[in-house]
Amino acid sequence: MVNYQNMRSESDVSMAEPNSIIDFRSDTVTRPSSKMRAVMADAEVGDDVYGDDASVKALEETVADLVGKEAALYVSSGTQSNLIALLTHCGRGEEYIGGDIYHISHYEAGGAAVLGGISPKHLPTDSNGGLKVEQVEAAINPDDFHFAKTRLVCLENTVNGMVQNQEEICRISELAHSKGLLLHLDGARLMNAVVASGKPAKELAAPADSVSICLSKGLGAPVGSVLCGPQDFIDRARYNRKLVGGGMRQAGIIAAGGHYAISNNIERLAEDHRRAKILAEGLAQIEGIAVEINDDQTNMVFASVEPVNQQALITHFINSAILVDGGDPSFRFVTHMDIDDNAIHRLLDTISAYFNNK
Ligand SMILES: Cc1ncc(COP(=O)(O)O)c(C=O)c1O
Repeated sequence: MVNYQNMRSESDVSMAEPNSIIDFRSDTVTRPSSKMRAVMADAEVGDDVYGDDASVKALEETVADLVGKEAALYVSSGTQSNLIALLTHCGRGEEYIGGDIYHISHYEAGGAAVLGGISPKHLPTDSNGGLKVEQVEAAINPDDFHFAKTRLVCLENTVNGMVQNQEEICRISELAHSKGLLLHLDGARLMNAVVASGKPAKELAAPADSVSICLSKGLGAPVGSVLCGPQDFIDRARYNRKLVGGGMRQAGIIAAGGHYAISNNIERLAEDHRRAKILAEGLAQIEGIAVEINDDQTNMVFASVEPVNQQALITHFINSAILVDGGDPSFRFVTHMDIDDNAIHRLLDTISAYFNNK
């Protein structure tokens, strides 16, 4: 079996060439390093639907252990992981509570409703992306045949790059459990929260009955997420993974990339957070751009401009070989493994040049 630890070298980080395209759209855009590719090429594989893939099993054990859960299931994406969690926790006609800006509520094509007959209840999140325990309590339906049965609360950490208040998550967990509900945590970027808060993944995941971890965001793997929880939940989740067509065969090839990522690329997230801070502080110096500065931010920076400048600035980015997300109303800049210090300075220079030459 491959030893995934401490294999990373400086060559894992690609440097931004002066005129190369720089991609700030998301931390999902990273490409596997040569070391990660080598590990993937050498991975031991088998048919994972038969339970024969040693690399998948090793990854599942590693991630379950990292987040302090009994078992884990390797799945194709964060969306599939959340969908399987919802299908496993909730029955048809039941309801889950989530935040209105959460990925699970907003960006997953309504999968739980389409495939599971599960209705979402979206609550307004605060400026940090959090929900309050009182809000959740008020949103739980009474035990009355007029209402869908509320079964689950879904939280997210980080939300739009912001580390969530762990005490509040614990309060929501206690409330949910006292009312017979369960808690699912979309921890697509939980490792960013781990690095930024200094709290171990086990502690951040403890209030949740199930947690989903993405390997293909800041951690830099090409594919996959891991859904973690108690063994009986994972056994039922395996059934639902099959139901959504997510059973994979020699998946060890891609799981090995994920295992490499989780073993080598967590601590380096601090670099992404440092660069996001430099970027936010640099943007704050530029007249014409308003930036949200928030102590809980990790690897995302949100900034906005007057509507009159939006389209022109987008064109200016394209002409400068810089890819960004949004612009209406905010631009989102995400730092990741393929963004180095030069890339940050190139972005700041590009924006300054736009406002100076207007
Ligand atoms: C918080 C969060 N959860 C889940 C997902 C879904 O992940 P995937 O794109 O792998 O389906 C994303 C994707 O960006 C996300 O940001």
